[in-house]
Amino acid sequence: MDLDLKGKTVLITGSGSGMGQHMAVGYAQEGAKVAVNDINGDAVAETIKMVEAAGGTAHDATADITDLATVKDMIAGTESALGGIDILVNNAALLTEHTMFLETDPDACMREIAVILHGTMHCSRAVLPGMIERGGGKIVNIATDAARVGQEREANYSAAKGGVIAFTKSLAKEVGRHNVNVNVVSPGATNSPMRIGLQQQLRQKLGDEAWKAREAKVLRLYPLRRIGEMKDITNTVLFMTSDAARHITGQVLSVNGGFAMA
Ligand SMILES: NC(=O)c1ccc[n+]([C@@H]2O[C@H](COP(=O)([O-])OP(=O)(O)OC[C@H]3O[C@@H](n4cnc5c(N)ncnc54)[C@H](O)[C@@H]3O)[C@@H](O)[C@H]2O)c1
Repeated sequence: MDLDLKGKTVLITGSGSGMGQHMAVGYAQEGAKVAVNDINGDAVAETIKMVEAAGGTAHDATADITDLATVKDMIAGTESALGGIDILVNNAALLTEHTMFLETDPDACMREIAVILHGTMHCSRAVLPGMIERGGGKIVNIATDAARVGQEREANYSAAKGGVIAFTKSLAKEVGRHNVNVNVVSPGATNSPMRIGLQQQLRQKLGDEAWKAREAKVLRLYPLRRIGEMKDITNTVLFMTSDAARHITGQVLSVNGGFAMA
């Protein structure tokens, strides 16, 4: 299937690492122009090199998405460099603590909500007027199955992502008339460098035997008996932001090996 993404301008938040970086290369391989946003400028530079190595065009959109004025400047800079944004992928996130809710730090909680929920809302607010004026666009918000079914030790993160899901549905109802599709892609556990790093820490903490037993238990929660890979998410996001998915809006699509079916 030709996704017809050639020449489109896409902005991916948090694309200095992990899945966002993987998506940036995926879009470049499809011929799209990529605005690489992250709070970490060195990470943005790394992704830009990868996009260019894949034969693509990239723009440095380094910014902290928790600040609306900064986001507006970042979007204006992107549009003057690459042209109007056709596709926005709200991917940036922060999971600062893996601990029971009552033991979490309220300031860290506010920061997670600021990046995940407010960041998504700021970028959508800044990008939508241009999309509407140009006759349409696509927004995909990356959530998590933790928000769909709940996840112990991730209450703050899940709450923020649950907000993203509710925001997506309401916004989809408002902007559908302007030919803007807004959807959620909801990964289950996925082997990004972030997850692999957390697993390494856990392995050190628990010891080899206990960690292997835990991994086997985790895999039994996944009917397909595997953890997702970054390409599983990238493929889905590319499809959801293509015109092949033009009649899909306000939906939450889990990419999770069957972990949650709610
Ligand atoms: N890896 C998993 O198992 C998994 C599972 C479910 C959902 N997700 C979601 O997938 C997405 C990608 O996850 P990942 O594993 O690649 O994580 P990651 O930590 O590698 O990527 C997140 C990026 O967001 C950036 N970021 C943080 N705060 C920012 C800010 N204020 N402004 C701009 N950028 C900021 C970070 O610097 C980082 O590069 C996230 O939305 C995450 O919640 C991941």
